[in-house]
Amino acid sequence: MTQDEAARQQQETRDNWSLRAGEWNQQADHMARLAKGLNEPLIAAAAVAPGHQVLDLASGVGEPALTMAKLVGGQGRVTATDLVAKMLAGAERRAGEQGLTNMRFQVTPMEDLPFADDSFDAVTCRLGLMYTPSPETAAAQARRVLRTGGRAAFLVWGPKADNSQFIIVDRVLHEVAGIDPHEGAFTPTRLGDEGALNRILQAGGFSAWDEQTLRFSPRVDPDSNFWRPQLALRLGDRLGAMSDEERQRLDDAMRQAYEDLRDGDRAQLQVHARIGIGTA
Ligand SMILES: C[S@@+](CC[C@H](N)C(=O)[O-])C[C@H]1O[C@@H](n2cnc3c(N)ncnc32)[C@H](O)[C@@H]1O
Repeated sequence: MTQDEAARQQQETRDNWSLRAGEWNQQADHMARLAKGLNEPLIAAAAVAPGHQVLDLASGVGEPALTMAKLVGGQGRVTATDLVAKMLAGAERRAGEQGLTNMRFQVTPMEDLPFADDSFDAVTCRLGLMYTPSPETAAAQARRVLRTGGRAAFLVWGPKADNSQFIIVDRVLHEVAGIDPHEGAFTPTRLGDEGALNRILQAGGFSAWDEQTLRFSPRVDPDSNFWRPQLALRLGDRLGAMSDEERQRLDDAMRQAYEDLRDGDRAQLQVHARIGIGTA
């Protein structure tokens, strides 16, 4: 990829996530509860401990950075980063609301980190690596800023076939709005195949690497509209261009699709995520 092409792609990613920031900010607390099951194994994989200096990449509206700030305590510090200022502003707002004073916030692409070599004990990245055109460069940057022996842990979605939320959103978009599920650069499951993370960590220069499989079945309230950020993620500016009627049709179809998974008062989802762990 040429430099011009990389810069164009980065701008496109920035624009896309800026458009979605409002929806993510609105749903932040609700999603934090839903995605709690992702944090614990990710934080354990990066071996984050009290007193640590931790770097979180693609922090979005705050997780896992906020949870780690509570863990590292007053002697430690979490640096939350993101490519998109409007997303990171949500993280900063929520840190204030939670009274966290051991955090700092830096808008930066993960492929070009403005931090010194060997300056962190651990690096984490939850659901961000699949959105950079060069995950190997991001891995190399994570390794560069880690002290020797420190760990980086990258969590990504596993294959689409194992994640009911992606099967549903793609099906509904296709059936209701005629949208091809495979179009666009935002394919959240693109690093989901076994071995993909190991290859990236090896290319990034880590001295050891490993991959973990994470499967669980969250029970969600189908009436809570929890899928809206995901819908916004897939549709981008097209969502804003839709009429109220079209949006309502999509909403109804999403609600119905989750109704089909209802078990008692909750819908039961299947989730497969993967964690790549690199040791510097
Ligand atoms: C799915 S959100 C994940 C946010 C948060 N970590 C979470 O799990 O809720 C993906 C985030 O990646 C950010 N992002 C995309 N490309 C990036 C890049 N090249 N460098 C840093 N952040 C990036 C987006 O702005 C967005 O906030």
